[in-house]
Amino acid sequence: MVFFRALEKVVERPAPFTAYTADILWTDPHISRHMLATHLDKDVDLASRNHRTVAAAADWLIGKFQLETGKSVIDFGCGPGLYTTRFARTGATVHGVDFSASSIAYARDRARDAGLAITYHQDNYLSFSPPDPESFDLATLIFLDLCPLSPKQRNKILRTIADCLKPGGTVVLDVLSTVFLAGAKEQIVYSHHPGGGFWSAAPHHVFQCTIVYPDQELYLDKFTIVEKDRQREVFNWLQCFSPEQLTDEMAAVGLMVDERYRSVVGDAYDDQATEFAVVARKV
Ligand SMILES: C[S@@+](CC[C@H](N)C(=O)[O-])C[C@H]1O[C@@H](n2cnc3c(N)ncnc32)[C@H](O)[C@@H]1O
Repeated sequence: MVFFRALEKVVERPAPFTAYTADILWTDPHISRHMLATHLDKDVDLASRNHRTVAAAADWLIGKFQLETGKSVIDFGCGPGLYTTRFARTGATVHGVDFSASSIAYARDRARDAGLAITYHQDNYLSFSPPDPESFDLATLIFLDLCPLSPKQRNKILRTIADCLKPGGTVVLDVLSTVFLAGAKEQIVYSHHPGGGFWSAAPHHVFQCTIVYPDQELYLDKFTIVEKDRQREVFNWLQCFSPEQLTDEMAAVGLMVDERYRSVVGDAYDDQATEFAVVARKV
């Protein structure tokens, strides 16, 4: 009976965005060490995209926005600095914001080793105050970082981005499209980690429930992580966007979408793809 009630809780469908647990996912000391290793794995599209794609995206952004001509850039959710390092090599003034202590420590070390004067802010971008408002030519938010946020949180970070930009400055970001949701299936996956693993160094069990909310174009991976003396739930919400919805949310804070692409490497927009990227101007 107790076990039945516990399992009922595991499979419970929460109301959209009722819990925000990104801090567990990205800042728990054990998990964030694994995340850092994942960012730095050059072949996988997890935490960061594979490093060939990162290099292609950075090259496209550097060329498109002529970063070598004394531009200033701020990268939200910069992780270990895969983009900021490449931007700074052009001579641009570069800031990065991320709340993961291990990623920021790694990024700072790499900048020091390379003699690059990048300013890193270890901060939550949902409460971040720009050091110098209206001072950046370009802002980036790369690898679907808008998708885990509730409508209120999205409005908040988009406002912060707009506050950072000079009038006429640009933001580039990418999101999941509604095509992603159309291919999503609800399922429950159980796994056992007797020797520890991604979520904990201690033995643990993981229930991953994938829940789809078609009316809200919303996807959730809800993880219940059970250890001997601790139980945690991690909610990975993923809002999927139509181009119109994203354009409206950005326009609400004065960011006008000018261009749409398939991804942040600047390839042609494809309405059958599971992701898309936009370039928007502060008006
Ligand atoms: C999917 S990763 C993308 C990292 C980087 N943009 C890239 O593509 O290599 C998301 C990043 O955003 C950071 N992040 C997530 N939520 C955040 C928040 N509320 N405040 C600051 N950083 C956050 C994570 O620590 C992580 O480094």
